[in-house]
Amino acid sequence: MTNGQRLKAIYSILRKILIKPSSIFLVLKDETEYESYLLKKYGKTQLPTVDINNFLQNGTAEVNHFTFLDGSSLLTDLALLKSVAASYKKCDYMEIGTWRGESILNVADTGANCTSVNLSPEDIIAMGMNEKYAHLHGCLIPDKNNIKSVYANSLTFDFGTLNQKYDLIFVDGDHSYEAVKSDSAKVYELLKDDNSMIIWHDYGYNPETPRHSVIAAILDGLPDETHQYLYHVSNTICAVFTRRNLKSIVLESPVEPDKVFSVQLKNIPFKH
Ligand SMILES: C[S@@+](CC[C@H](N)C(=O)[O-])C[C@H]1O[C@@H](n2cnc3c(N)ncnc32)[C@H](O)[C@@H]1O
Repeated sequence: MTNGQRLKAIYSILRKILIKPSSIFLVLKDETEYESYLLKKYGKTQLPTVDINNFLQNGTAEVNHFTFLDGSSLLTDLALLKSVAASYKKCDYMEIGTWRGESILNVADTGANCTSVNLSPEDIIAMGMNEKYAHLHGCLIPDKNNIKSVYANSLTFDFGTLNQKYDLIFVDGDHSYEAVKSDSAKVYELLKDDNSMIIWHDYGYNPETPRHSVIAAILDGLPDETHQYLYHVSNTICAVFTRRNLKSIVLESPVEPDKVFSVQLKNIPFKH
């Protein structure tokens, strides 16, 4: 690294911290520290893993509105989300973090009542992010009467103003420790009843590698009595909160596959 590159890196770190103070934790606390923190506080560094087939209907799901572009969830993440939503009679669904709309559109296709909470394009630009990126938010979402968009920062938003409880909540906004902890604590209060579920994205960097900062944030954000109901879902990078009685294993990487998926692709031209 040249001195010029070093200065550029320092400048960009300082700029990031000024725009978003919580990103200082990216510098101060790396993933290894969160791993030791988890071990010390909770005696574990990952959640027990449950089979995705607990949630898919007959082992199948159809995922649509998928762009295969940057920021997309995994196909299996969306299959999980859609299948869980479909398991409720008329699911009341809320998500934090919508980006182009891939997750909410898949859930909306099940007939669910959907609410998206996402930063507004103006907030995104004010945070120093690219204008085109800001304006592409929600670009896939047509006028759908079962999708309501709320433009807000989940860290400061009063979710009580939504005046609603939910069957399923997807947490997929800011993935920093502080934000996931705050989002988890807030959404837990919005669950409708004992059958309600929370799904978190980015439980792992991939389906075999846990992201310790996110796990620490989920555990720290939720009351201790709920920790027994937290799982990682196999073949996904999602964690779930469910009071269903599920058989789990301690996942050891590298995983020996016990299933393969068949995927059929069809692309449909799209105009924003
Ligand atoms: C990974 S994307 C969501 C992807 C989407 N759930 C999907 O699967 O298609 C994360 C989104 O969270 C939004 N976001 C980030 N921080 C946020 C915050 N503090 N409050 C609300 N939304 C936030 C970003 O604008 C971005 O669109």
